[in-house]
Amino acid sequence: MRKDNCKMALQRNVIINDTYQIRQVLASSELAIVYAGRDRNTGAKVAIKEFFPQRLAERQADKRGVFCSSRGYGGQYQELLAAFLLEGELLSKLDHPHIVSYLDHFEANDTGYLVMEYCTGITLTEYLNEHNHALDAAFITETLLPLVDTLDYIHKQGILHRDVKPSNIMVMEDGTPKLLDFGSATRWPMQSGEKQVIFTSAGYSPLEFYSEKSSQGPMSDIYSLAALLHYWTCGQPLWT
Ligand SMILES: Nc1ncnc2c1ncn2[C@@H]1O[C@H](COP(=O)(O)OP(=O)(O)OP(=O)(O)O)[C@@H](O)[C@H]1O
Ligand SMILES: [Mg+2]
Repeated sequence: MRKDNCKMALQRNVIINDTYQIRQVLASSELAIVYAGRDRNTGAKVAIKEFFPQRLAERQADKRGVFCSSRGYGGQYQELLAAFLLEGELLSKLDHPHIVSYLDHFEANDTGYLVMEYCTGITLTEYLNEHNHALDAAFITETLLPLVDTLDYIHKQGILHRDVKPSNIMVMEDGTPKLLDFGSATRWPMQSGEKQVIFTSAGYSPLEFYSEKSSQGPMSDIYSLAALLHYWTCGQPLWT
């Protein structure tokens, strides 16, 4: 995830859905731009994730609307948008102290938006760099073990996260974790013959995530958590 000022991003103070005011870009990736924003009804600070697949999309001249600029890729754009909207749907079903809280999701500007609680704190990637990957007892009990419980909760709700990695975990000021980014999540158990959109993260995704049809399950998320522990202790992803 790059923390640049994405040129295609919405401008400061733009209002979406008559409710959410854009403040600034927090991050941008291949598929989305994440903004800090404000709910005009409550005044609360929020995080807003906008579907914006950088390879396929461009901003309209009105600086709001998004369109698929790659000829012949409209179908892929719609498939990815559907997966993006599923993130909001799945997150709306979850309520757990170590999972970012869902607030809203909707389509506007010909794209999709997910509004979440704004998490203060830093990503686990940043945290580990700052703390030189130290593995002390407090960090194991306050940060790692709650993640095990959180994955168990998600799996019991019939969901696989499928993208457990340091940049998808925020470490809050009290050391507790918040799991983010359900952009690759799916319902589980899967229907027989059901095809999965392939989303992978080098160093964290198990082999079965590289196939549309392979069998995936809670153990796939546990693999990623183990890969995260490897990164935590060794300072390098398991593979790149
Ligand atoms: N609710 C939030 N509060 C604060 N920061 C957030 C929030 N959600 C996301 N971020 C920031 O934005 C970054 C990207 O968010 P997220 O992982 O959901 O996007 P993504 O497009 O799926 O990224 P990637 O594909 O790289 O995983 C996070 O690593 C975090 O720094
Ligand atoms: Mg992410």
